[in-house]
Amino acid sequence: MYDFDKVVDRRGTSSIKWNFQDGFGQHDGLLPYWIADTDFATVPEIMQAIQHRCDHPIIGYSDPLPGVYKAIQGWWSRHYDWTPDTDWMLLSYGVVTGIYFTLDAVVPKGSKVLVFTPVYDPFFAAVNNSGHTLVDCPLDYENNYYTINWQRFEDELKNGVQAVVFCNPHNPIGRVWTAQEMERLCALCAQYNVYLLSDEIHADFGLTRKYTTAGHYQNVYDKLVVYTAISKSFNMAGLGSSCMIIPNPELKARIQEAYDSRWMFGPSDLAFTAMEAAYNHGDRWMEEQCDYLRGNVELVNAFMAEHLPQVKVTRHEGTFLMWLNMNCLGKTSAELTTIMAKEYGIALGDGSHYGKQADGFMRFNIGCARSTLQKGLDQLAKMYKDYMK
Ligand SMILES: Cc1ncc(COP(=O)(O)O)c(C=O)c1O
Repeated sequence: MYDFDKVVDRRGTSSIKWNFQDGFGQHDGLLPYWIADTDFATVPEIMQAIQHRCDHPIIGYSDPLPGVYKAIQGWWSRHYDWTPDTDWMLLSYGVVTGIYFTLDAVVPKGSKVLVFTPVYDPFFAAVNNSGHTLVDCPLDYENNYYTINWQRFEDELKNGVQAVVFCNPHNPIGRVWTAQEMERLCALCAQYNVYLLSDEIHADFGLTRKYTTAGHYQNVYDKLVVYTAISKSFNMAGLGSSCMIIPNPELKARIQEAYDSRWMFGPSDLAFTAMEAAYNHGDRWMEEQCDYLRGNVELVNAFMAEHLPQVKVTRHEGTFLMWLNMNCLGKTSAELTTIMAKEYGIALGDGSHYGKQADGFMRFNIGCARSTLQKGLDQLAKMYKDYMK
């Protein structure tokens, strides 16, 4: 058994989560539940592999050896019933970088690119900064649960959308899209011949059901890119190590060409080393991490129901990011962020960043030891008591 209860002191490392909290009106010292890395010590074999690699005195320009691709393939094949060809894989520094490159190199400039909101906010920047027009397709929200408004989606496709940037499992709303939803999404993308950029970085956090990769649907293969990484799954976000899976060789060549022509050398050898070790040795750790997170979700649900009964907790299916509707407090997300930081010493994510309709919501990162989570909950309960008066 791995010890997820262990509190790992991250202060003194260059952790953004723990050290750099300027956005909250206070530099540091807050208990952090915001940016999306966890506080869990990673799989020991990953760190051993990195240490072993460092026994060699040179880390030069690097290209992955076949074992890295095989390890990625093995993970998807064992866990998600999909065996992507190793030739489809292109490694990159990060998922967001990969999305930028795809939008920049492949999707014709000025295209309409659709996102389902509320969603991870760098999607907006990636679309806007690569010269496209953002199409906001708000999700339906009912009974603390989000679903795709299929009619609205199809109307937008008819209106000329050329690409969809999809998040699966979906940050920040915690949905793990079902196989039926994925099938319908892919069928529509195929019918309207649009690019599907499927960000599956939270793949391994399907807590109530296994996630379904877009890779299962061959009807979208002409225009599909799946983005994966070890950064969330194994708490390795600082290493810059992700993978694009692109079944269409012509599409892959164009993205590769865009990458190479900008003189990007891809992730470092340390990142390759970590990926290989993670996907070869991380199965049991990942399983236990998900069990632990299920316990954290249960704790949040029970605590909120008892101590913050009017806060609406979005039904949580996956990721380590919970989505709280705090509109009962009558404050904007920005106001809540400041109050939480200045008066209660905690840092949560400002929900309004994720979409126009998300003001009054906060994103709560529960990827921490239960004792740390309890401290945050206690502070939230104090705030609720003071402000619901
Ligand atoms: C949905 C999603 N995509 C991408 C990222 C960032 O990935 P990377 O650091 O590999 O660019 C995050 C981080 O929170 C995320 O939640």
